[in-house]
Amino acid sequence: MKRRTVLKSSLAALVLAGAAPYGLSLFGREPLLSKAHASNRVPITPLPIPPLLENLDKSGKTARFAMEAQRGVMDFFPGKPTSTFGYNGNFLGPTIRVRNGQRFSMSAKNSLGQTTTLHWHGLHVPAQWDGGPRQPIADGSTWKPEFTIRQEAATLWYHPHAMGLTGEQVYNGLAGLFYIEDEFSDSLDIPKNYGVDDIPLVIQDRRFFSNGQFAYTQNMHDVMNGVIGNHMLVNGALRPSLSVHAGLLRLRLLNGSNSSIYRIAFKDQRTFKVIASDGGFLEHPVAMNSIVLSAGERAEIILDLGGAAVEEELILLVDQMKGSRFEAMRIKVGSPAESNAALPSDLRPLDRIPESEASIIRGFTMETMAMGGGRMGMGMMGRRLTINGKKMDINRIDEQVKLSSTEIWEITNQSVMMMSMPHSMHLHDVQFQILSRNGQTPPHEQGRKDTVLIMPGETVRIISRFRDYTGVYMYHCHLLEHEDDGMMGQFKVIS
Ligand code: C2O
Ligand code: CU
Ligand code: CU
Repeated sequence: MKRRTVLKSSLAALVLAGAAPYGLSLFGREPLLSKAHASNRVPITPLPIPPLLENLDKSGKTARFAMEAQRGVMDFFPGKPTSTFGYNGNFLGPTIRVRNGQRFSMSAKNSLGQTTTLHWHGLHVPAQWDGGPRQPIADGSTWKPEFTIRQEAATLWYHPHAMGLTGEQVYNGLAGLFYIEDEFSDSLDIPKNYGVDDIPLVIQDRRFFSNGQFAYTQNMHDVMNGVIGNHMLVNGALRPSLSVHAGLLRLRLLNGSNSSIYRIAFKDQRTFKVIASDGGFLEHPVAMNSIVLSAGERAEIILDLGGAAVEEELILLVDQMKGSRFEAMRIKVGSPAESNAALPSDLRPLDRIPESEASIIRGFTMETMAMGGGRMGMGMMGRRLTINGKKMDINRIDEQVKLSSTEIWEITNQSVMMMSMPHSMHLHDVQFQILSRNGQTPPHEQGRKDTVLIMPGETVRIISRFRDYTGVYMYHCHLLEHEDDGMMGQFKVIS
């Protein structure tokens, strides 16, 4: 009896010190819902497909949209309603589809009861309409960005980006896809029937309290490692199943998680072809049987189900780098598709940016530092997540970039020993090209990118052109708990 009390109180001390391992009751009295709870209690449901956002310009000449960030409720677990956020709905948002060259306008209403922003991740956009932390939308007000789309076909996304609130608001459900199409993507002979053979997959892990609410409570461990979930959602569903024809299937993958790094594969190890990265098509399809996406990254893949037996069932596997394996989704193969076109072997010629075009090389160090020892030992040891030794300060411009110039950025993940963790570097405004990752570039990373995984000890060199727009933009770690903790800086494009 006595011994138990002692044990209990030392555990309590550990919890206070923020050093309790993940999975213990860090959250007061409320335990977490176990992973098994989903497979035991949640029925398999058809994969939800986010609706395409309706263009208010009926002629389709311009792209005129309206969205509202609002509160909602979802029944992820039967009988345990979860309070959520969504755009025009309970969870996540509609898919926005625009064309290169189109005039775009959005009326974005904030009905959340707290400040938010609406950021176009991956979009080349004037700084004042970027939707980053410099463009807050106060509760109850409406933000009306308007600009022209100047960008090739790509699978981008949108999410809130208010200072210190990004992680929690995305966790609650604020995110959606943003497709750009153009003449090239129209003409390419690949699946493009939205929701039929061209399927958006927003992949996100979550953890829940046993009462069904999201467990987005952060202790120091969560800030450092990110809030890593033990349940996997695809398009907001826990155990989704997708029925498709036997033919080519295009999956547009978004790692929409807060801080997880995913290795995505199929249970039977089958090969698929990667056709696009963050910023658009690759030059040629790249055959792989698994792909790693850090938080914020996208990839488009093609599965050839032409030879699949009717009723064959594939399982999409998602492995968390720090966590477990999930059978995230089933794909049921039905009757043959009408067309059985083969995937073209040439996709889009890449406008490669030559290294010689760069006028400057900048160095960035993403660092995880341990500070002091503290009188309570490891648990109380302060840690700092920084870029070039600094934390985000909205009143400070970290880098000045000349308009119309080309720059090389060398980004190093300096985390060492016990503090080592991956980071996911993201730049606003530009789609860059990876020059090298530790001296090499894997073929599926040779297209345009806006977010890049940087493992401990790695250096990634990227090159980008800063065109068209002046103003202040962000660069940051896309692990949202790191970003909210200040692992972010600002660059100003000046004329
Ligand atoms: Cu996806 Cu600065 O954001
Ligand atoms: Cu962004
Ligand atoms: Cu990070």
